[in-house]
Amino acid sequence: MNNQKLLEVQDLVIEFTTDKGKVRAVDGISFSLNNSETLGIVGESGCGKTVTALSLLKLIPSPPGKIIQGHILYQGKDIVSKSESAMRHFRGKEISMIFQEPMTSLNPVFTIGNQMIDVIRQHTHASKKEAKERAIKMLERIRIPNPERRIDEYPHQMSGGMRQRIMIAMALSCNPKILVADEPTTALDVTVQAQVMAQISELQKKFNTAVILVTHDLGVIAETCTNVLVMYCGKIVERADVSTLFESPRHPYTRGLLTSIPRIREKKLEKLPTIEGTVPDLLHLPVGCRYADRCERVRDHCRLEEPPLEKKDDKTEVACFYPY
Ligand SMILES: Nc1ncnc2c1ncn2[C@@H]1O[C@H](COP(=O)(O)OP(=O)(O)OP(=O)(O)O)[C@@H](O)[C@H]1O
Ligand SMILES: [Mg+2]
Repeated sequence: MNNQKLLEVQDLVIEFTTDKGKVRAVDGISFSLNNSETLGIVGESGCGKTVTALSLLKLIPSPPGKIIQGHILYQGKDIVSKSESAMRHFRGKEISMIFQEPMTSLNPVFTIGNQMIDVIRQHTHASKKEAKERAIKMLERIRIPNPERRIDEYPHQMSGGMRQRIMIAMALSCNPKILVADEPTTALDVTVQAQVMAQISELQKKFNTAVILVTHDLGVIAETCTNVLVMYCGKIVERADVSTLFESPRHPYTRGLLTSIPRIREKKLEKLPTIEGTVPDLLHLPVGCRYADRCERVRDHCRLEEPPLEKKDDKTEVACFYPY
């Protein structure tokens, strides 16, 4: 039996060099992803979600950033040591990424058709004509009206939701095995958000793509993900399947996030802000558990030693000495 994971991240450490010192944005995280799984990554601003997502495509800006330890195995092969030219071939074809703000990822001076054709031709042997046909089909699939005409339009002629759907279509146009979506709906209206998420789910099923979804919206996680990683201060503090996480969160931080849901819904732009206290500065991390200062279950031990991420039962891994 072949039980090789599609993606396996092992003990990944990513540092940024800043004028105040080195910052560990990601500090020894491990996780894996199976075929057609949807893995959510959630956590407060600055906890390392985007850095984690970018690392999977080796898109960490370097300098100042650097993967200083660990492995990212894609179908069993480590991409950490891959060259930039190998990565150019890899991105879009094996793992694709969509970002929060589609306007920054689409080039304003080219028509969306030209941009889609470029992506397709970069990774296939399609002729210009074939690539255009494929692009039109993709637009049809995401239900852009009049695709033959709209393919010649520029990004600014489209609505935000349409641009984001085009980004998704582009990201999936070469049939990657993994789609990494970093806050794909945060910049959009609530009504459009649901459409875009539905689009991702639909294409995911059609193409059998695995998805890594970075979001601060636990509602989106509940609706779309199969498994969830909760990050805090560069670490994974809890990992569980989605129903276990929502029904019986074990880490005090996860509990805090879940009780903050209604407030997120009211003020959608605020990013999980409602747990008392603040996240420690990555430059001056406490000894012991990073969540200790905000934790309602903290005991002396927590300030002396850092809790490792451990299996607590069949379904959950938690980095806490005194979980729920
Ligand atoms: N270009 C950079 N230069 C220096 N430090 C950086 C850089 N990018 C990220 N970092 C550091 O990495 C940490 C994690 O950043 P990251 O963008 O991954 O957070 P995030 O979880 O995606 O937050 P948000 O929810 O706001 O998008 C930041 O707090 C910052 O200290
Ligand atoms: Mg981010």
